[in-house]
Amino acid sequence: MTTQETRIKTPDLIFPTDFVWGAATSAYQIEGAVTQDGRGTSIWDTFVKQPGRVVNGEHADIAIDHYNRYRDDVRMMAELGLGAYRFSISWPRIQPDGRGPVNPGGIDFYSRLVDELLSRGVDPWVTLYHWDLPQALEDEGGWPSRETSKRFADYAAAVHDALGDRVRNWSTVNEPWCSAFLGYASGEHAPGRREPDKAVQAAHHLLLAHGLAAQALRAQRPDTVIGGCVNLYAISPQTTSEADQDAARRIDGLQNRFFLDALLKGEYPDDVLEDLGRPAGLVQDGDMEIISTPLDKLLINYYSRFTVSGTPGGAASAAAAPTDTGSPWVGSEHVSFVGGGRPVTAMGWEIDHSGLLEILQRLASDYPRIPLVISENGAAFDDVLEDDGSVRDHDRVSYIESHLRTCHAAIEAGIPLEGYFAWSLMDNFEWAWGYGKRFGLVHVDYETQARVPKESALWYAGTIRRGGLSGPAE
Ligand code: FCB
Repeated sequence: MTTQETRIKTPDLIFPTDFVWGAATSAYQIEGAVTQDGRGTSIWDTFVKQPGRVVNGEHADIAIDHYNRYRDDVRMMAELGLGAYRFSISWPRIQPDGRGPVNPGGIDFYSRLVDELLSRGVDPWVTLYHWDLPQALEDEGGWPSRETSKRFADYAAAVHDALGDRVRNWSTVNEPWCSAFLGYASGEHAPGRREPDKAVQAAHHLLLAHGLAAQALRAQRPDTVIGGCVNLYAISPQTTSEADQDAARRIDGLQNRFFLDALLKGEYPDDVLEDLGRPAGLVQDGDMEIISTPLDKLLINYYSRFTVSGTPGGAASAAAAPTDTGSPWVGSEHVSFVGGGRPVTAMGWEIDHSGLLEILQRLASDYPRIPLVISENGAAFDDVLEDDGSVRDHDRVSYIESHLRTCHAAIEAGIPLEGYFAWSLMDNFEWAWGYGKRFGLVHVDYETQARVPKESALWYAGTIRRGGLSGPAE
């Protein structure tokens, strides 16, 4: 072997041997099979059927039919060498009406999925809630109702009781900011309500649901690993003006600190409560202790940076779907999203790996000691399936590579970052955007359901095999 070959094959950035290399999906986005084996109706099933909610009126009745193809999908994960797979459980498969006894058909699917993963050496990471609330619970008030938090804890305990003997890593609610503020303030997501005050209640009850579930799981098995999952953004003011800095404080407050302080400090930031108009009767005695039940890990979904201005007139949000929506920024509706001039993905999201480092450094200093995992990171691009069957998604490779380099830098700096999950394993139903936005490492033909690993999947598989990133081949 020549010196040059040695250099090419030697990773220049080696990750710890126990670093978790994964990919993520969620139930509604991939499963399809919406009436199979006794599944009930979720708020997304209802929402997608309402005119104007999703681009081109698309829905996920079939999605990518993972429910019926999970064995092949798991085989593909093993072929790519994934160490872990993060997926979510569909609540209406387990409790079709959001309460009462477990539906055997529903839990059996996840039990088979877990067994399949374990038999192929892929570690299952379960998310209990990725936005598909049973419609029956929405009819009783949804997340603005405190009762929903209690229902969630019962559901979480039932799933954990069935799978906790084989699944070690659990997380509760995926991105409570989205569920609360896109679901109940802007209406971009199901259930599509535009009631800002209710959105704040929803946020509190999603956090309460998290805490109650964490306690229920821990009571069942003290060694279960429990994570909270938040979507964090790096935020910059457009200028140093007071108005722009105030805008940045507000958006950082509602997007990041509201959730982090609640989960990890047991309090809501005072300035954010002020921005929200000090909602009366929101927090009951003992709630914050429940919400801040000690966690084993913090799961972070990171995609982009927001640049904001305090001068109204710009975009009301960073790249919301082109559906009829309001502002998710309760109490800070005047803030404009102006962008920072960086290259964007097909979602219009600015690409900025330095924002991830900023977030990881901040977590390590403001919320020390909690182990961190990147539970989602990735990008949509307008992929082309070539005649030779390849998808040369070099933009996605460079997006993921730059963020992994950042992860490596964070680990070198002593930040306790333990794993990385690419979003997403496969192309899927991207909520209000429908199928037009492809995030997958694996291309899916929505007519035939054929799966074809893109170059990014092959590149990621090589990275996992080498345990790190190759140096430049000069
Ligand atoms: C996250 C969601 C995930 C997917 C990605 C692109 O906010 O958790 O389901 O939509 O964004």
